Amino acid sequence: MNTTICEPDNGDEAAEQQHAKAHEPDINHLMFASRTNWNLKPNRLAEALEQHRSSGRPLLDLSASNPTECGIKYDAPAIMRSLCAPASLLYRPDPKGLKSARQAVSDYYAERGEGVSVDDLILTASTSEAYSFIFRLLCNPGDDLLIPTPGYPLFDFLADVNDVRMVRYPLFYDHGWHIDIHALKQAITPRTRGIIVVHPNNPTGHFTKTEEIAQLNQVCSANQMAIIADEVFLDFILGSAQKSFVANPGALTFTMSGISKICGLPQMKFAWLAVSGPKAEKREALARLEMIADTYLSLNAPIQLAAPVLLQQRKKFQEQCMGRVRANLAQLDAQLADNQHLNRLVVEGGWYAVLRIPATRPDEELAIELLQKHDVYVHPGHFYDFEGDGYLVVSMITPEQDFSEGVRRVLSGFSENPNSGGK
Ligand SMILES: Cc1ncc(COP(=O)(O)O)c(C=O)c1O
Repeated sequence: MNTTICEPDNGDEAAEQQHAKAHEPDINHLMFASRTNWNLKPNRLAEALEQHRSSGRPLLDLSASNPTECGIKYDAPAIMRSLCAPASLLYRPDPKGLKSARQAVSDYYAERGEGVSVDDLILTASTSEAYSFIFRLLCNPGDDLLIPTPGYPLFDFLADVNDVRMVRYPLFYDHGWHIDIHALKQAITPRTRGIIVVHPNNPTGHFTKTEEIAQLNQVCSANQMAIIADEVFLDFILGSAQKSFVANPGALTFTMSGISKICGLPQMKFAWLAVSGPKAEKREALARLEMIADTYLSLNAPIQLAAPVLLQQRKKFQEQCMGRVRANLAQLDAQLADNQHLNRLVVEGGWYAVLRIPATRPDEELAIELLQKHDVYVHPGHFYDFEGDGYLVVSMITPEQDFSEGVRRVLSGFSENPNSGGK
């Protein structure tokens, strides 16, 4: 997703480009598939961010979510050594991924106390690629998948690329987030092929509850649908321990994760999907997925050979990451303690906190004002499809000092005039 493309706003150049555009043939519809007819113009906030960056003014970025640029310490020698295995010089492809790498993933689950066989795992370059494989497996063009809202803004593009339709099912907030099971059932059509759950969800930070899993299993088996569980934030727990979907027996289930978040190594491109559920469906799903994976063979040998070492990196990473998330959450709560206008919603896991703010104007407008007047960048709730205005999302892996000062600026914007936010 490119949110930083910038339209020029300087006189002559802009006029020239406008002229060129007006005389451009309408090539979109002639040359390109309609599935890629996206509006690629930057939104107002992305434009404001670009302008801010080019102004050179220091910015407190409370949306920081790239772990490699957040001051986290990695065991660089171990990581670099792991990428030099001599076996990388041989080409011995396995459509499901090298067995040693799948074993490392299976060991990861075993250490969590959960069992998954190497035979039930397929490796992919990213969780996003795993989504695509599953969509191709389950959906004919125009079929539906149910997605949670609020949620992570990745799905609409994935849906377009794979010719599927994303149908939203609501989460509701009542002392924590819950699935509106009634609304979810209402959203099912004869073309619905599966239900996506993000466990814990980004950005609401809630886990799917045991009773909700039982209901999802029941709904899916009654309607020949699958569960697609995105668990990239599974290990980042703020409350009690949470089980993975990885061995869910109650319905055909695809569980995805990867080292992008689990180990804070998004640049390495190593992820997986695991299949569980009723025996016959699971066997068929695995056979078909293997064929899809064989068509691409997208994982490279060095990264697969490094997988056991890279997965071990999660311990050091998660310790630092959760230390920071806890410290930032405590800081946020301390600053919010006496605030009558803002509060934060319950968070059970993940890296994000959701602030409830007075919904006196569009969240995007407020985020632009915070950026321009207070040099602080936060995500407005509408990025994540919150129902209505009144939400800001902040990343708790932001370095502590920046987080503390950034939150102070957001809150001071409101204390100046509670109804206007940053004004
Ligand atoms: C909930 C969720 N799923 C998937 C992804 C993408 O993960 P990957 O880097 O493995 O494609 C992200 C990225 O932020 C995410 O937040």
